[in-house]
Amino acid sequence: MDVVLDGVNKIYPGGQHAVHDLRLRIEDGELFVLLGPSGCGKSTVLRMIAGLEELTSGDLWLGGSVANGLSPRDRNVAMVFQNGALYPHRSVRGNMMFPLEITRGDPDEARSKVRELARALGLDSMLDRLPGTLSGGQRQRVAMGRALIREPALFLMDEPLSSLDAGLRAELRVEIAALVRATGATTVYVTHDQVEAMTMADRIAVLREGVLEDVGTPEQIYHDPATVFVAAFLSSPPINLLRATAWAVQDQGVVLDMGSQHLTLPWDDPRASALISHHGAPVTIGVRADALTQATSEPTGQELIGHVRTLEFHGHEWLAYAEAGIPSVDPAEFTQRPIQPPTPVQPSRIRALFGRSTPEPEPEPERTGHHRRTDLIFRITTGPRPARGDDVRLAVDLERLLVFDSKGRRVDPVAR
Ligand SMILES: Nc1ncnc2c1ncn2[C@@H]1O[C@H](COP(=O)(O)OP(=O)(O)O)[C@@H](O)[C@H]1O
Ligand SMILES: [Mg+2]
Repeated sequence: MDVVLDGVNKIYPGGQHAVHDLRLRIEDGELFVLLGPSGCGKSTVLRMIAGLEELTSGDLWLGGSVANGLSPRDRNVAMVFQNGALYPHRSVRGNMMFPLEITRGDPDEARSKVRELARALGLDSMLDRLPGTLSGGQRQRVAMGRALIREPALFLMDEPLSSLDAGLRAELRVEIAALVRATGATTVYVTHDQVEAMTMADRIAVLREGVLEDVGTPEQIYHDPATVFVAAFLSSPPINLLRATAWAVQDQGVVLDMGSQHLTLPWDDPRASALISHHGAPVTIGVRADALTQATSEPTGQELIGHVRTLEFHGHEWLAYAEAGIPSVDPAEFTQRPIQPPTPVQPSRIRALFGRSTPEPEPEPERTGHHRRTDLIFRITTGPRPARGDDVRLAVDLERLLVFDSKGRRVDPVAR
């Protein structure tokens, strides 16, 4: 069953505008993940799809017809919550059987269905146990079994793993993804965990403050994020977000001026043309830790210089933190109801950059009230490792450089 949200808004009675003009199409059979920080409206969206919450405006389409007024039981949906509540006095079998008892199907058929599903969920040895004797992970499997036994056309899961410990979460997310794919049911899975979203989803929608920031496959969202927020949310270690000013320079390209350092996008780079209209304007540069590598060859001018402050051992890699004197950007600066103060433009800056006049004193960075990090995080997997206190020259993989405008949106539009 496909699901379409067409201009959906939810304003709670208290006035909380929890979902803003949401437009999404979830394809039949898709494992679709709604991702975002706590309070961004994920549960509200899920509950509107389930029919547990009314839409304030807009339309919800289920399987090709408008479903706004349909009661939950007429929607052929099943839902699993964070603490999949079970009937405490019913056995595992009794809990899983319950939805079939209500519909009064053939009891023998129901029993064999329970056995089959219990096997798929790894519960076949505990069918006679009571929920109180099960672990959290096992209880969550039973809740899933109870939801899936009716073979819903649409399966909704609201942070089903968030109350479990990390090891179990990692194990269960693999099983859940395999199981729901095997049933063929369209699944909408809500989580605030980027790893869960990336590893499980066919496609991910990223929500923030009730607004859709981006939607795409995990690869699209990771490599080609639409906004600063998405780039930062789906990044571990944190993406380097550097504050710069874009200057279009004849014969060179667009210079991304970070004060004491700069990078240049040559004119044959499509991002350079996209940046012409941002001449003199503040931009944010996003560079992931693995797009920076210690330069060993001759300087190309497309490097960043840093002073190593800390090294962290992560088993499969080292992470290095280098002081680079570049102001960093906090993704929280870009709210959906923007109040971003424009940075004053200094045309003389471009002359200063190329030494055609005496450089002016550095302008005071604008104060946003956020903690300023001036470290560049980079990853070391092979080769020599710098020591703390070393100066390093980091080659920037320009292909992977992300440039965002003053509203936190990509300057080169993202095509999906
Ligand atoms: N029943 C409600 N009445 C009023 N406000 C609500 C209600 N449920 C949720 N909200 C508010 O709507 C916003 C989105 O909540 P929710 O959908 O639960 O977010 P999430 O699931 O992403 O954590 C939050 O600001 C929350 O406080
Ligand atoms: Mg929630």
